[in-house]
Amino acid sequence: MKFFIDTASLKEIQEAHSLGVLDGVTTNPTLIARESIDTRDAFEKHIKMICEIVDGPVSAECVSSSAPDLIVEARTLAAIDPHVVVKIPMTTEGMKAVRSLSEEGIKTNVTLVFSALQGLMAAKAGATYISPFVGRLDDIGHEGMGLVEEILDVFSNYLFETEVIVASIRSPLHVLEAAKMGADIATIPFKVIGQLARHPLTDAGIQSFLDDWRKVEKDFSMK
Ligand code: G3P
Repeated sequence: MKFFIDTASLKEIQEAHSLGVLDGVTTNPTLIARESIDTRDAFEKHIKMICEIVDGPVSAECVSSSAPDLIVEARTLAAIDPHVVVKIPMTTEGMKAVRSLSEEGIKTNVTLVFSALQGLMAAKAGATYISPFVGRLDDIGHEGMGLVEEILDVFSNYLFETEVIVASIRSPLHVLEAAKMGADIATIPFKVIGQLARHPLTDAGIQSFLDDWRKVEKDFSMK
């Protein structure tokens, strides 16, 4: 299973990269808006800096609507770095763009997927990745991980190369469920990546071992 980080923060990306478990990065316009980026040029430079930290796919999102505009924008983003994957919205225009970009060899991540049929459409159009948003479904009382299960089930009937990125992750439980289902990738917020390695019994165990070791050291010094 691959772990991506879902952020545009260079600090968070560097910190997650230092853990040695990071396979890629996903960004979106909301995450970019949290950084001090005020020009298109600054945005493109920022994406380039991310690509220099992580040796893996880096998703950068297109904001155009029509297929021709999406294609032009995607080509500009893909030219930033070979690691760039262009995020395309799950719309009919988006599907036209994905088909054409896939034929050009430009990698795509179809975003804002909320149904298995949308996932199937994107895979048929030639998407490299699809991103079902689990947290946003949970937020409105639907079972987000149920969608991932359904997509994986549909994909298992065919030979699509499209990989499933579990996105809009809110908690470690989403990551665990994604791994149990065999999802290809989870794109995880920085805070949740930190939570994955932690357990209160680990902390308590370390503390009690250290306390006991201090007693042993005290005995050493008396001899
Ligand atoms: O990767 C998509 C993700 O950034 C959306 O997350 O938390 O805004 O629903 P969220």
